[in-house]
Amino acid sequence: MITIRDINIKDKKVLIRCDFNVPIINGKIQDDNRIVKSIPTIQYAIDNAYKVIIISHLGRIKTKDDMKKNSLKIVCDRLSKLLNIDIKFCTYEDDIKSEISKNKIVMLENIRFFDIDDKKESNNDEQLAKYLSSLCDVYINDAFGVSHRNAASTTGISQLVPSAIGFLMEEEINKLSELFNPKKPFVIILGGSKVSDKIGIISNLIDKVDKMVIVGAMAFTFLKAENIDIGKSIFDEDNLNYCKNLLNKYKDKIILPQDVYVSDNINSKNKILVDIENIPSNMMGLDIGEKTLDKITENIKDSKTIFLNGPAGAFENEVFSYGTKNLLSILYNTNAKVIIGGGDSASAAIKYGYKNKFYHISTGGGASLKFLEGKTLDGLKYIGE
Ligand code: ADP
Ligand code: 3PG
Ligand code: MG
Repeated sequence: MITIRDINIKDKKVLIRCDFNVPIINGKIQDDNRIVKSIPTIQYAIDNAYKVIIISHLGRIKTKDDMKKNSLKIVCDRLSKLLNIDIKFCTYEDDIKSEISKNKIVMLENIRFFDIDDKKESNNDEQLAKYLSSLCDVYINDAFGVSHRNAASTTGISQLVPSAIGFLMEEEINKLSELFNPKKPFVIILGGSKVSDKIGIISNLIDKVDKMVIVGAMAFTFLKAENIDIGKSIFDEDNLNYCKNLLNKYKDKIILPQDVYVSDNINSKNKILVDIENIPSNMMGLDIGEKTLDKITENIKDSKTIFLNGPAGAFENEVFSYGTKNLLSILYNTNAKVIIGGGDSASAAIKYGYKNKFYHISTGGGASLKFLEGKTLDGLKYIGE
């Protein structure tokens, strides 16, 4: 795939799409991995191009309140510090073209602010894509984490101006491609909360794996499909039948939790450990327990390749971090080549001290799963055309 190295950017205005969708709690960035990993491309553009325009999304924008909570200003400040260079931050009230002419590097406010108006960014609105293309001469997609979305700032703009991928994207494609021919046994461990996004992908991956372990909020749709009372746990109503069928067909391949920590809400300070058949009806499952970890260890101990996507529990609350922490330690102690995917999974791995300890920590969650299916990602379809 054509990269920023292969395209002429000299004297050009280069617009770089990054994925700066980083976890932020109480106005503090919890993990800046996605920002740090974007630096090589941005620095290369600063050194070789005329102007650099940076765009990204942050969170999901449905209301005005979401806009208040998801400004990219704080990310701009962090990036500026990391690069040790001034970056002009522009809101959509500013005259953006004039700011680009006055500054070397400009970063735009959260591109999903356009979602407030008919989901213009997320639904790949043609006018928005045109507007973005009017700001630049060259488009660089370095936003691996969001490249499975058919958005104006990913697919749309890439059809309108000369385009290429950045270094982060290149590394992701190279490393994740190794999973197309994994050394066996190959195990995928799926967790996290973007259930409806990720669940449908399982049937396309299940034939490639020796075992599929399901933890996190992902597990509860499967458990409910087995007629287990999951109380108030998160699940995906639309996919209950799908999970039932999968379980019927692949009973021996799919590993589900045997015990979970439950509580009445995700911010709780209390938890109790119950066997999976004993989840109280007024509580939700928020982490996995010891028996589940033992079962996972048993099933992955001889694996040669392991792909983990999604945390095992709601680890941002220390109370529910037990499963995520211990699962990382179990993976670290196998002899397998381990690849971890997902913004939140990557945050967890870094938070618990595994920054450079696995073969690859991908910045993409849903995107890495989609990639593993062997499908061309929407945001990459028109790159270099
Ligand atoms: P990734 O970013 O790694 O792809 P997701 O975005 O799918 O993962 O999910 C991450 C989120 O899942 C985390 O914020 C975590 O709190 C949440 N989570 C994990 N397990 C549960 C659970 N049992 N119930 C609710 N949320 C959960
Ligand atoms: C992610 O964090 O997985 C990416 O930034 C994509 O975010 P989205 O699921 O809101 O599109
Ligand atoms: Mg996530």
